[in-house]
Amino acid sequence: VPGVAPGHVAVIGAGVVGTNALQIAVGMGARVTVLDKNVDRLRQLDLIYGNRIQTMFSNAHNLEDAVMSADLVIGGVLVPGAAAPKLVTRSMVARMKPGSVVVDVAIDQGGCFETSHATTHENPTFVVDNVIHYCVANMPGAVARTSTFALNNATIGHALALADKGWARAMKANPHLKNGLNVCQGHVTYEAVAHALGYPCVPADSLLG
Ligand SMILES: NC(=O)c1ccc[n+]([C@@H]2O[C@H](COP(=O)([O-])OP(=O)(O)OC[C@H]3O[C@@H](n4cnc5c(N)ncnc54)[C@H](O)[C@@H]3O)[C@@H](O)[C@H]2O)c1
Repeated sequence: VPGVAPGHVAVIGAGVVGTNALQIAVGMGARVTVLDKNVDRLRQLDLIYGNRIQTMFSNAHNLEDAVMSADLVIGGVLVPGAAAPKLVTRSMVARMKPGSVVVDVAIDQGGCFETSHATTHENPTFVVDNVIHYCVANMPGAVARTSTFALNNATIGHALALADKGWARAMKANPHLKNGLNVCQGHVTYEAVAHALGYPCVPADSLLG
């Protein structure tokens, strides 16, 4: 509304989640700050949105700045194969504006707010230190039919390749499918998962025959 300062939305993580979150926030006329450690991602978003968003390198100082002034913080960080880093601490949440909202999309990987715990659509929110938390682990479940079709569109090619070629040949033919292999013939084949669980990592190539 002319004459009124817009709400401030801080988006942590500029990947798939963060990009979609900021698209909606910009569309609603918010002041948007997006933080990521990957400067190339920030550069791409800067090219698209120009001065309609503010991009910030994700470090402790910038995170603190953005979170303290935000009305809404959306957390969409991912470190592949590892638990999400707890970037927003309990003490930061306690110092946020009363009534502000945090949405921890990364909750399915443990969450990036120290105060988060997973919730469901049945009872999606809870309050910690006057800050409303929304931490639904399966957000696309709100539009189950649409999200199932969208997921199938992306995965059906892999399912058909596995059915047509058999798993080993399909993996050899498609590095993306092979990169997704976590466990094979009793061995952990994904470096970060092996590291997190204390198992040796056996390269997938050595098991494909
Ligand atoms: N709850 C749900 O319903 C739901 C839905 C979709 C995705 N997710 C989860 O959301 C998370 C993000 O998914 P995505 O597809 O956007 O991943 P992505 O890989 O596309 O993006 C993650 C981003 O986080 C950034 N990042 C890593 N460390 C960071 C740090 N310290 N500070 C700031 N940014 C950092 C990465 O550089 C990357 O750009 C995943 O854990 C995913 O499983 C949850």
